[in-house]
Amino acid sequence: MKKKTSQYPNCILAIESSCDDTSAAVIRGGKLLSNVIHIQEVHKNYGGVVPELASRAHQSAIIPVIEAALNQANCNKGDIEAIAITRGPGLMGSLLVGASVTKGLAIAWDIPIIEVHHMEAHILAHFIDDPKPSFPFLCLTVSGGHTQLVKVSSARSFDILGKTLDDAAGEAFDKTGKMLGLPYPAGPEIDRLAQGGQALYDFPIPKVPGLDFSFSGLKTAILYFLRDQKKKDPNFISEHLADICASVQKTIIQILVERLMAAAHESGSTSIALAGGVAANSGLRKAVEKCARENNWSVYIPQLQYCTDNAGMIAMAAWYRRLQEDFIDLGFTPSPRMAMKHH
Ligand code: KG4
Ligand code: ZN
Repeated sequence: MKKKTSQYPNCILAIESSCDDTSAAVIRGGKLLSNVIHIQEVHKNYGGVVPELASRAHQSAIIPVIEAALNQANCNKGDIEAIAITRGPGLMGSLLVGASVTKGLAIAWDIPIIEVHHMEAHILAHFIDDPKPSFPFLCLTVSGGHTQLVKVSSARSFDILGKTLDDAAGEAFDKTGKMLGLPYPAGPEIDRLAQGGQALYDFPIPKVPGLDFSFSGLKTAILYFLRDQKKKDPNFISEHLADICASVQKTIIQILVERLMAAAHESGSTSIALAGGVAANSGLRKAVEKCARENNWSVYIPQLQYCTDNAGMIAMAAWYRRLQEDFIDLGFTPSPRMAMKHH
């Protein structure tokens, strides 16, 4: 078969399969050409991601997703000069699917492999579109698996100032949703319902030293609150759903914003970025924008498609590593608890 004329040589193909989204993207010269995301529906009724089902769903989706990313970028395999993969952190079974496909393609196409740290990529999603923050900046990364406050000094230098000691912010939304009978992921639904309710119920703000976070106490408080209210009125949840959602959301936002303010103050940062799936939350966005007006901060929030898990952010992070010819060999294994590095 005759090879298509190469319109976009020197592209990097990036693959993300760390949790429950199968995604592939193509980047060239630091400019993203495609970002295809397949959202797994199988977890909806389980209140969270079921690892075994996630691996199987990645296995069937990954090749069509890669083909779609190449097609949308208008390039063919001959244009791909390196392949990037999320090495971790994430679910082992999910990471293995992406790692194995990456190795296969690297051998077949004779191209090098670039490893990407999933949380670094969430932060570097800010460099896909304008306006881009300038270094150094402070990033609050809030996703289903992580909650971190990170000082970002360069595209390769990350200092974790604070992190969750237990559940992640997204998990707090998702576990609340499970108690309320909402489908997974519950964050977007709680956000939507909260807009029609009032924060009538008070939940405790945890006392955690430093810049760390904790959400497990909130989960327990909600559980006992719902149990007590249902004893008095079995229909309590359905009759007060919007107010419960508004109250829980307000508490999660308060926990996040208090720490963000403290970190900004301690590090002297006025350039503030939000990343990760929970950055989509309309209440959090409003609260951070209000802080920004009051404290003269510049705030950066990526487009929604680059906030939740996507290979576009993996491609962006890979681009910076490509510039330094930072490749790994074929013998690599996924790293479910991969640490963030300060270079
Ligand atoms: O970054 P992400 O796609 O996955 C991880 O890396 O974990 O984040 C997914 C999380 C889920 O917990 C989901 O409920 C939450 O982001 N989420 C939201 C909203 N949209 C997504 N949480 C609150 N409000 C939203 N609008
Ligand atoms: Zn993520």
